[in-house]
Amino acid sequence: MSASYELHGDIAVITLNNPPVNGLGYDTRKGITDGLQQAQDDPAVRAVVITGAGKAFSGGADIREFGSPKAVQEPNLLSVIKMVENCDKPVVAAIHSVCMGGGLELALGCHYRVVAPGTQVALPEVKIGLVPGAGGTQRLPRVIGVENALNMIVSGDAVKSEVLAGIPGQKLFDRVIEGDLMAGALAFAREVADRRPLPRVRDLKAEHPQGAGYFQFARNTVKATARNFPAPVKCVDCVEAATTKRFDEGLAFEREQFLNLMLTPECAALRHAFFAERAASKIPDVPEDTPTREIRKVAVIGAGTMGSGISMNFLNAGIPVVILEMKQEALDRGVGVMRQNYESQVKKGKLTQDKYEQRMALLTTTLNYDDIRDADLVIEAVFEDIGVKEQVFRKLDEVMKPGAILASNTSTLDLNKIASFTRRPADVIGMHFFSPANVMKLLEVVRGEKTGKDVLATVMKLAKVIKKTAVVSGVCDGFIGNRMIEQYSRQAGFLLEEGCTPEQVDKAIERFGFAMGPFRMGDLAGNDIGWYIRKRRYVEKPHMRYSKTADLLCEMGRFGQKTGAGWYDYKPGKRDAIPSPVVLEMIEKHRAELGITPRKISDEEIVERLVYALVNEGARILEEGIALRASDIDMVYLTGYGFPLFRGGPMRYADTVGLFNVVQSMKRFAKNPHDDAQFWQPAPLLARLAAEGKTFN
Ligand code: NAI
Repeated sequence: MSASYELHGDIAVITLNNPPVNGLGYDTRKGITDGLQQAQDDPAVRAVVITGAGKAFSGGADIREFGSPKAVQEPNLLSVIKMVENCDKPVVAAIHSVCMGGGLELALGCHYRVVAPGTQVALPEVKIGLVPGAGGTQRLPRVIGVENALNMIVSGDAVKSEVLAGIPGQKLFDRVIEGDLMAGALAFAREVADRRPLPRVRDLKAEHPQGAGYFQFARNTVKATARNFPAPVKCVDCVEAATTKRFDEGLAFEREQFLNLMLTPECAALRHAFFAERAASKIPDVPEDTPTREIRKVAVIGAGTMGSGISMNFLNAGIPVVILEMKQEALDRGVGVMRQNYESQVKKGKLTQDKYEQRMALLTTTLNYDDIRDADLVIEAVFEDIGVKEQVFRKLDEVMKPGAILASNTSTLDLNKIASFTRRPADVIGMHFFSPANVMKLLEVVRGEKTGKDVLATVMKLAKVIKKTAVVSGVCDGFIGNRMIEQYSRQAGFLLEEGCTPEQVDKAIERFGFAMGPFRMGDLAGNDIGWYIRKRRYVEKPHMRYSKTADLLCEMGRFGQKTGAGWYDYKPGKRDAIPSPVVLEMIEKHRAELGITPRKISDEEIVERLVYALVNEGARILEEGIALRASDIDMVYLTGYGFPLFRGGPMRYADTVGLFNVVQSMKRFAKNPHDDAQFWQPAPLLARLAAEGKTFN
């Protein structure tokens, strides 16, 4: 049973029981209405308490029902809330731990609400592209005021119950109960059992002294930040409706917005990302109950750009870290960078001095392998050179305790080869972080041929602890993300040769929604990194043609922002990209050498060539089994490469364009003599799906 009914003397208690978070699925909703009916019919019952079993009051809609007929089967959530509100006996919500979305809307339909301190309260619907759909936008402003409610609804962020209880004049919580919540709720229910009329949130007023002016201001602010997403502005409209319309009209207005948003591509993309993230943590041949190893202490080899960022992830999660380097100066520099990073967070008020000190206290440094022997996990982040990696992994194999996980952060080297340097390849795995490693959400978890299932399960679990989105990748050059980006970069280079300026390419793809175009990105990350990789890569793959413009740029010493010049010019201390005449001249000269007459290239072609390059390589990656599913590829691009969220990732975007159309464009590109005809042969999987009228996802 997903909700239970129980009598405590003259009080009926309905307990939602649908683990993990008491999602309001059909059975749970039915349980609530059945319980309410029973309570109404029983003359001995004077009041009703609704609460949640286990870890939540209720986390809202049951996402397992999303898109299924059960989600809207009567009694739907609106009907449940209506029945609660119209109950002729007082209904008290006893709220604890998590009260979100539909859970909060249900509580707002109750006559009274008591709450345990520390409860996370939110209307997070906006995060999946929606407005709350069961009265949240109408009732919340009536109990905590228009501005507070609007902030919560537009951000979707959770607020602690004690903060909400502290709002002057709030009517959200009738009592904060320290100690035993159920005892407190029962006592409260008895106190109010005979009070009439029953208070209903719908009968309160939502008002704002500046009225229309305030909402116009809010709408403008929200529009500027929501950019490509329609839901946040609709949230403003709904809350405004709470102040201008009669309650039932406001409710109908909210419902209409909810249903309209459901059908938008942006909402579908957000839902896709939401489910893709959950899917990414599942590995078909590694069951969820696979035993994992305990990670109590982590060692990091190398205190460079990556090593220091990686270390911070574990310190932030309260896990002790020891960093090993070759020289004391390198250690000092790495630790200095971490300190600077934390100190700037303290300055911005994002971190308390106390927490900063606690984190740094978990960090030790060493030049001696004896000091890392007892670590449960060691992550190598030394120079990207197979000889150096070999030296390090042979040493790790010699010193690390049995059962320790040996991870490499390599971005391009063969993980199987790295594993072969040890006598315990089952313990070796790739943990490919993205720069800055303490900020970027993505973690590519590279599964070697011999990586143990328990090792994989342990790292996937650990990723959650350090708040990363982990995606499993098989072994290949560049893994999922960088292997695809290589094709995107090649196209960007060809576009320059054929007639584009860096600015035109960047602007086109930024208008498509990317956070940054390829050339601005190169200047930020450092063009020398790619230069170094190309020197190795294209020796191994001489058949793969690429534009030499990027090499010529590096030969001019233009590595990007760090050298004050790259694809663009930069004023000292500024990050604004200024088109560079020197670079344009270099491109023109190179073009002439290739004998290419420049042509005018449309933004549409730029976007198609860049994005479909990702799609075609993505399809190959999928076909080869490097990625487990198309949505994993989308996750990599959404969390690691700034692909526009409202488009749902490259594979999903291709699905929405239609794979048939994607293939048609590729065939056209294959005819361009300056492009790579071989590359534009549609991947067999893509060709097949397109022919069958199917999609990736
Ligand atoms: P880095 O050059 O900033 O740092 C490397 C550090 O390793 C240096 O401090 C160096 O002193 C130390 N080191 C070198 N050999 C060592 C040894 N035998 N024992 C102990 N320490 C040693 O390099 P970065 O950028 O941090 O890269 C490290 C690894 O992470 C490479 O494998 C790279 O491919 C990978 N990576 C880099 C990304 C980036 O954006 N920089 C992104 C993802 C992965």
